[in-house]
Amino acid sequence: RQRRSQSLYQITEKAADYFRAQLREHPAAGRAIAYLRQRGLSGEIARDFGIGLAPPGWDNLLNHLGDSAEKADQLELAGLAIRRQDSDGTTKPGTRHHYDRFRNRIMFPIRDRQGRAIAFGGRVLGDEKPKYLNSPETPIFHKGRELYGLWEARQANRELERLILVEGYMDVVALAQFGICCAVATLGTACGEEHIQLAFRHAPELVFCFDGDRAGRSAARRAMESGLPQMQDGRSLRFLLLPEGEDPDTLVRQLGGERFTRLIEEQARPLEDFLFDLLAEGINLQTMDGRARLSKLAAPLLDLLPAGVYRQLMFQQLAARTGLDRDTLEEVIIAEKARA
Ligand code: UTP
Ligand code: MN
Ligand code: MN
Ligand code: MN
Ligand code: MN
Repeated sequence: RQRRSQSLYQITEKAADYFRAQLREHPAAGRAIAYLRQRGLSGEIARDFGIGLAPPGWDNLLNHLGDSAEKADQLELAGLAIRRQDSDGTTKPGTRHHYDRFRNRIMFPIRDRQGRAIAFGGRVLGDEKPKYLNSPETPIFHKGRELYGLWEARQANRELERLILVEGYMDVVALAQFGICCAVATLGTACGEEHIQLAFRHAPELVFCFDGDRAGRSAARRAMESGLPQMQDGRSLRFLLLPEGEDPDTLVRQLGGERFTRLIEEQARPLEDFLFDLLAEGINLQTMDGRARLSKLAAPLLDLLPAGVYRQLMFQQLAARTGLDRDTLEEVIIAEKARA
């Protein structure tokens, strides 16, 4: 088992080297480099993030690394090759049982805490679908537990005060291009408890900065729920909602790094404001009914907070907003728990 993982790390690293080399050497590299330039990325940033190219064609990587049946199986296990559906055992010698998963895509290696490439995200150069293809789960890659860009952020600064959580590879890389080297992304999945745990292990302040669209807003809400149980004293969670249609990549290119940082510092709302504003949306707190609804929505969420000063303060907030006292709020929690 140990040995199998060992060889998976090796083959994935070799694949990362191969993709990087293709971005310099392959005849298709010119188009890929033009694409990266057009997105505002410098060669230096591409190098920092180990960005590469999976060339067009069905078996480039297999030809390079999969020269035996055993190696091809390893590439499959590493999520880099896919077994042909129609192999019926009659395949003639020399005929391939596999094809490359990543073809004609810009390759973003996902690195673990030791800087080893363990998986990839691959982007098309045009508008084809799917826009991004990610490595599947493998014995060395569990997407719920990795944050894209964390290793690079730690390289830039060992003592991170803040991590900015974004949705996409391009958001991480574009922010770094503008000198903001503390952004990390979840890998095409929701930002869950394990992601937040991992992020808090490296910085006391997390700022969620998801895309300015419906998906981004609901991701922020889910991230808030995942974060609540982890709000120990000294930690902070903040939320920056972007203008409709923008993501951190498009916004930092408009504003530049300094103004983007100022935006985070001045406009990212602390958890307490974000939570109450979100829940109170569409509720009229002048009415008794409205205050009852807010307490029913908020009390079970606040109950997720661990014991501590912050929890006490949040319940005080809720009490102030609803006019209810702590004992009544406790009753609301119990009643809502019974309902769930
Ligand atoms: P977005 O569509 O917002 O990506 O998806 P983006 O990074 O802004 O894309 P471009 O390059 O600027 O156009 C956010 C993230 O969701 C995942 C990827 O991780 C992506 O970075 N995703 C998106 C996928 O896994 N597959 C897809 O087809 C699209
Ligand atoms: Mn790991
Ligand atoms: Mn989006
Ligand atoms: Mn986006
Ligand atoms: Mn984008």
